[in-house]
Amino acid sequence: MSKPVIFSGIQPTGNLHLGNFLGAVKQWVELQNSGTYQCYFCIVDYHSLTGKMTADERRAQVMVTATELLAAGIDPKKSTLFIQSHVPEHTELSWIFSSVTPMAELERMTQFKEKSENQKQNINAGLFTYPILQTADILLYQATHVPVGEDQVQHVELTRDIARWFNNRYAYNFPETAAVLTETPRVKSLLEPDKKMSKSLGQGHVIELGEESSSIEKKIQRAVTATAGGGIAPGAQNLLLLYKHFGDPARYERFIREEKEGTIRYGELKTELSSALSNYFADFRARKQKLLANPDRVAKIFAAGAKQAREVAQTTMKQVRQKIGIR
Ligand code: TYM
Repeated sequence: MSKPVIFSGIQPTGNLHLGNFLGAVKQWVELQNSGTYQCYFCIVDYHSLTGKMTADERRAQVMVTATELLAAGIDPKKSTLFIQSHVPEHTELSWIFSSVTPMAELERMTQFKEKSENQKQNINAGLFTYPILQTADILLYQATHVPVGEDQVQHVELTRDIARWFNNRYAYNFPETAAVLTETPRVKSLLEPDKKMSKSLGQGHVIELGEESSSIEKKIQRAVTATAGGGIAPGAQNLLLLYKHFGDPARYERFIREEKEGTIRYGELKTELSSALSNYFADFRARKQKLLANPDRVAKIFAAGAKQAREVAQTTMKQVRQKIGIR
């Protein structure tokens, strides 16, 4: 019997941060290693055109993201790892889906509203139709499971709708898709813990996986922990959550107890969290350096991934073209 299919994607915005890791990539590696699924992981360079990167930046960022995914444990022997633009069927299916998707549904998308707010000078049509391309990414491979952070759930729900609209109109059988969330679907910014951790807020808001100890320490020391009124403040909660994932379990229990009793010393938590993070990602940093020294190897891995992905994408497109009456 064939395995259930997983698809997920990431924008080539350079270095991965703890939000990407705890919301998505760590889980990708676990799902891949479970052996239960057929996994596709994709660097979505077409999606990144909706932002403001230059061509040179994009080329460099794709390479960094590729290297970091491998260093984080995505294994090309177990997963199909590829770059979106290497499989042109993604844009073809996206166009087809755009003709079954009502504008009003796209207008509801939170990410579109947020991004339009953040890049007022560049509210392009691609930003608006972005979730349609994301739907094409997922459905080309007939994926049923999409491991993502919380901010992508609405897009995955729209994917289900688009599949249904298409299936009803053209009598096809795209599967129902569901988001798969981790225990930490929304890692918060270090400096503005009411917002999600994101590089677009600035470097002080995020910890990158490849960051050196001294830099981690500086950023964690500056992280906001102050309480606004009663209860545990979101910033402190975020640091405790990070400690839970990267620190010592017995120490974590103690921090939680101290937090309840009001005796916790955040300076201590911050120092221990910084060294836990630095230790956890030491192997990652070493693997990344090795891969960076061998860009040809990385390029070969991605060329092979695109070849594998394209075969599947072409099969889907053949059926879709027949259903819609073209070629
Ligand atoms: P992107 O590149 O913004 O983020 C990649 C993954 O990281 C997750 N993530 C977070 N999770 C928890 N806390 C955070 N602070 C945090 N920041 C980011 C995201 O939820 C995501 O899972 N549109 C997608 C890329 C995409 C895609 C797809 C995803 C394109 N096609 C098809 C799934 C399936 C995006 O921009 O993710």
